[in-house]
Amino acid sequence: MEHVLPAAGFLYWVGAGTEAYLALRISCSLLMALRLWILDHEPGVGPKLGEWAVVTGSTDGIGKSYAEQLAKCGMKIVLISRSQDKLNQVSSKIREKFKVDTKTIAVDFTSEDIYDKIKTSLAGLQIGVLVNNVGMSYEYPEYFLEIPDLNNTIKKLININVLSVCRMTRLVLPGMAGRSKGAILNISSVSGMYPVPQLTIYSATKAFVDFFSQRLHEEYKSKGIFVQSVLPFCVATKLAKIRKPTLDKPSADTFVKAAVKTVGLQSRTDGYLIHSLLGSVMSLMPSWMYFNMSMSLNKSQSSFYTIDN
Ligand SMILES: NC(=O)c1ccc[n+]([C@@H]2O[C@H](COP(=O)([O-])OP(=O)(O)OC[C@H]3O[C@@H](n4cnc5c(N)ncnc54)[C@H](OP(=O)(O)O)[C@@H]3O)[C@@H](O)[C@H]2O)c1
Ligand SMILES: *[C@@H]1O[C@H](CO)[C@@H](O)[C@H](O)[C@H]1NC(C)=O
Ligand SMILES: *[C@@H]1O[C@H](CO)[C@@H](O)[C@H](O)[C@H]1NC(C)=O
Ligand SMILES: *[C@@H]1O[C@H](CO)[C@@H](O)[C@H](O)[C@H]1NC(C)=O
Ligand SMILES: *[C@@H]1O[C@H](CO)[C@@H](O)[C@H](O)[C@H]1NC(C)=O
Repeated sequence: MEHVLPAAGFLYWVGAGTEAYLALRISCSLLMALRLWILDHEPGVGPKLGEWAVVTGSTDGIGKSYAEQLAKCGMKIVLISRSQDKLNQVSSKIREKFKVDTKTIAVDFTSEDIYDKIKTSLAGLQIGVLVNNVGMSYEYPEYFLEIPDLNNTIKKLININVLSVCRMTRLVLPGMAGRSKGAILNISSVSGMYPVPQLTIYSATKAFVDFFSQRLHEEYKSKGIFVQSVLPFCVATKLAKIRKPTLDKPSADTFVKAAVKTVGLQSRTDGYLIHSLLGSVMSLMPSWMYFNMSMSLNKSQSSFYTIDN
């Protein structure tokens, strides 16, 4: 008995200590969540970072919503996408609605020889925010070797999802560093955090974006530049092939309204309360369970990437 008692006393204090620690951790998380998602606060973006915001892939989906939200904050907007028609449409809508200047650049990010053109068009602009949004996935989940036109798909996905992030950052970061101000938002994906089988290339390119952003943030935060990696789950856009938004698959507007408020507060974010909760649940799941779930995505038709006509 005498041998057991001191041990029991010790265990008691270990238990009490652990409990206190956990309670503290949970309260901190709750307070942070309250501040982030519930309380109203100024978005961390705006003309104070620089007059212009550049958004890639900005005529549809998440990119278009970022362009609109940044214009709403009073920033002038450079829109970059492929189709000049869509660019003109979105640009005149933004000019009318938010009374800010706009500029458009029509390029295809699957090519490598577009960056001189972009550089020329951006010359002389004071750029405060860059949103690296443009990205593509495949038509449907598929085993690596079965992907149609594989050689070309590899090249395109890497150019648009990886090269564009690096080269665009290369173009605007010197100006930001010179003024010690700026924010770079890289739109990654939850599939970059948890590898998704049958979307292997997409998933891996998004992981690159996530790593790049996190390390870039560390390198440049002392120079006044905020780099954020945004890791959304499903957002109802053309890319995800989802038409009708739901609570867990919000519209691009709903998603981006929440996400811009996290700028300056979270360098890595799911961007949206429900996605953040899903992220917490997933981080508790063993990886085999997650793998099993995502392997059956294609078949179950209830997926991320099913064609819903
Ligand atoms: N939707 C989701 O569930 C989800 C989830 C996680 C992450 N994401 C990420 O969020 C980002 C945006 O996705 P989204 O769902 O908003 O996509 P989206 O609705 O398909 O919009 C894509 C935008 O990019 C432009 N674009 C497409 N290909 C291009 C190219 N080769 N060169 C230049 N511009 C191009 C399109 O305009 P043009 O056709 O005129 O070129 C359009 O403005 C992507 O990086 C994606 O990986 C999305
Ligand atoms: C996923 O579904 C598509 C069409 O629904 C099919 O063509 C493709 O082969 C499927 N992929 C796998 C890996 O089962
Ligand atoms: C793809 O590339 C490989 C090697 O680089 C080549 O052997 C193969 O023929 C190419 N496939 C097509 C369809 O071009
Ligand atoms: C965004 O991408 C740029 C360039 O690739 C990188 O420097 C930066 O760290 C990234 N930011 C985040 C948050 O991933
Ligand atoms: C997932 O697990 C279930 C039950 O254990 C099993 O029947 C199914 O084959 C698994 N699916 C995959 C894709 O491994």
